Formats: sequence, structure tokens, C-alpha cells
Amino acid sequence: MVRIKHISMNDPLYSQEISLRTAVLLAPLGYTIEDYCNIAPGREEKCEHFVAITDHPSGEKVVGAATLFIDEDESTGKIQQVCVDKQLQGSGIGQKLMIAIEARGFGELGLSSLYCHAQLDAMSFYDKLGWSVEGHEFQEAGIAHRRMFISAPKPVEATDS
Ligand SMILES: CC(C)(COP(=O)(O)OP(=O)(O)OC[C@H]1O[C@@H](n2cnc3c(N)ncnc32)[C@H](O)[C@@H]1OP(=O)(O)O)[C@@H](O)C(=O)NCCC(=O)NCCS
Repeated sequence: MVRIKHISMNDPLYSQEISLRTAVLLAPLGYTIEDYCNIAPGREEKCEHFVAITDHPSGEKVVGAATLFIDEDESTGKIQQVCVDKQLQGSGIGQKLMIAIEARGFGELGLSSLYCHAQLDAMSFYDKLGWSVEGHEFQEAGIAHRRMFISAPKPVEATDS
């Protein structure tokens, strides 16, 4: 059973989060976590960190991760570093992570929208969650991306009965 945890960087699971992000996202681009952090100093610390975990005889195992960065206007948030253990991809973990972050962003923080820079290969993952694409294709870390976003759900209006 996979569950999602919102952790701080002091949590013992944070080092597993970094190992997973490195294996799935950074190392294939030739980046280390230090390289990533140097691109935007201080940003990693400002992000909220989410991990998907499973129980393992040796303790909790991180099998998915993502971060949420709240923009300075405090009304939008950027989801970054979304990744799932290669052997478990396609089993619904990524979707579970995204739903938990949307609940945090819209339900708890009251954000008006969330966005991400989606690799072209991953666009249909976001599309299936109801995200929309906007703007032109652009390069980031040598990979083609599109900006995708989702707006906060509209409050349900009370009806007279
Ligand atoms: C993209 C990623 C986070 C998705 O997580 P996941 O756990 O594998 O995805 P899920 O099993 O929750 O998939 C949900 C749906 O999205 C689809 N989907 C998942 N990954 C996809 C991808 N890369 N491209 C297209 N569709 C994808 C699934 O087929 C599934 O559709 P279905 O419900 O119709 O079967 C994961 O595959 C991953 O870590 N990929 C490598 C890193 C990466 O590309 N990160 C995103 C950078 S923008």
C-alpha cells in the first residue's frame, strides 16, 4: 500500500527523496543534486516536499517524490521534480502524489492555480489529471518542455431546495 507523506528536509526520508530524484531525474541529465540546487540557490529549502512511501521490512521506502514551490505572489504554486521509482512506474503512484499536492495547494493553501514545466514525454500524464497546456515549447536542461497548469476547482454553489 502506497501512501503520501509531506516531509521536511530534516525528515530521515529526505535522503531517500534525493536518491530517487537523482536516479530518475537528475543523473540521466548528468546533474547532481548540488548542480540542481546551484541553479536556484535557496529554492530547495523553500519548497514543500512530498514522498510516496511503501512499507519494507527494513523500514519505510520512498518510491515517489515531488516538490511544491509557492510563487512570491502566494497564489500560484509550481510542482517540480515529479518522479516515481522506475520499477513501479505505471502503477498509479504518480497520480496519487499529484492528487495529494493538489489537495495541499488548493484545499489547504488556497492557491488559485498550479503549474509545472512538463517534459513533452510526460505531458499526457498531466493531461489525464485534467491539466492544460499553455505557451510555446521551450528548452530546459536540454530537454523540450511545455508549461502546463490547473486552476483551483470552483466552489460548489449552494442551491435552493
Ligand atoms: C511521469 C511519472 C512521474 C508518472 O508517474 P507514474 O506513477 O508512472 O504514473 P501513473 O501510474 O500514476 O499514471 C497515471 C496515468 O498517466 C499515464 N502516464 C504515466 N506516465 C506517463 C508518461 N511518461 N507519458 C505518458 N503517459 C503517462 C499512465 O499511463 C496513466 O494513464 P491511465 O490511467 O490511462 O493508465 C513517472 O512515470 C516518472 O517518474 N517518469 C520519469 C520522470 C518524469 O518524466 N517525470 C516528469 C517530468 S515532467
